[in-house]
Amino acid sequence: MKIEAARALVTGGAQGMGRCFVERFKEAGARVAFCDVNADGVKATAAELGVPGFVCDVSDEESVSALVRDASEALGGINVLVNNAGITRDGLLLKQDRTTGEMQGFSLAKWNQVLAVNLTGPFLCTRAFAMQCVERGIEDACIVNMSSISKAGNMGQGNYSATKAGIASDTVVWAKELAKFGIRVGAIAPGFIRTPMVEAMRDDVLQKVIAPVPLKRLGEPDEIWEAVRFIVGCGYFTGRTVEVDGGLRL
Ligand SMILES: NC(=O)c1ccc[n+]([C@@H]2O[C@H](COP(=O)([O-])OP(=O)(O)OC[C@H]3O[C@@H](n4cnc5c(N)ncnc54)[C@H](O)[C@@H]3O)[C@@H](O)[C@H]2O)c1
Repeated sequence: MKIEAARALVTGGAQGMGRCFVERFKEAGARVAFCDVNADGVKATAAELGVPGFVCDVSDEESVSALVRDASEALGGINVLVNNAGITRDGLLLKQDRTTGEMQGFSLAKWNQVLAVNLTGPFLCTRAFAMQCVERGIEDACIVNMSSISKAGNMGQGNYSATKAGIASDTVVWAKELAKFGIRVGAIAPGFIRTPMVEAMRDDVLQKVIAPVPLKRLGEPDEIWEAVRFIVGCGYFTGRTVEVDGGLRL
């Protein structure tokens, strides 16, 4: 699909990489809408970029149904979905208090939050999007999932790593299942990219993160956009994950 023919919906588009993708789709001449759970962020980004923005929690079934209905109406059908919304709630499985020696296990609530947004979210959005494609007779469509370098298994990210491995694996499953409806499914596994998610790290932690990267720097959102553009544009690409990580292996 030519990028200018895209009628794209980007989840988690109020900031970070999602916002960059919204801007780039618009600049390329595509029609684009986005959603975010952060209502103030939706208002500000929609006004600044002049594109439709919707408040939606991707982990909520009803909220996602309303999103796909409204975005599809706003754009005259959606043929590209970028499952970008994601969160981290990091921590070790077991932690010992240095002074008391007391053991603490990782929070079930934080485990569930990350699974709900990073894995159930893309499932709900993909299901509603694919249904909308079939109902509207859209025969050339594409889904881009955001996995992560952490899919390999990153210490302190048991929940996040599981979701990012899960989404890479569902990229293969959905590519197989949706090919007959003309829907391709690709994923991107970024390394550490300069967004609010990464900039929230303590500086010493950030330096430790960058040190083993062969390219010795964070990636930029625009460098991940290059992968989005490739997946949307290459009609023979489906069921695979593009790794854009400066050469880092965890
Ligand atoms: N930044 C990185 O280094 C990096 C690396 C690998 C993968 N990723 C993945 O890329 C994606 C974007 O990351 P980012 O760094 O731009 O993150 P970010 O935190 O800057 O932005 C994520 C956006 O998603 C929104 N969001 C959170 N929960 C939501 C929900 N339930 N429903 C709808 N929107 C929700 C947030 O409000 C925010 O605007 C995420 O899936 C992330 O896991 C990021």
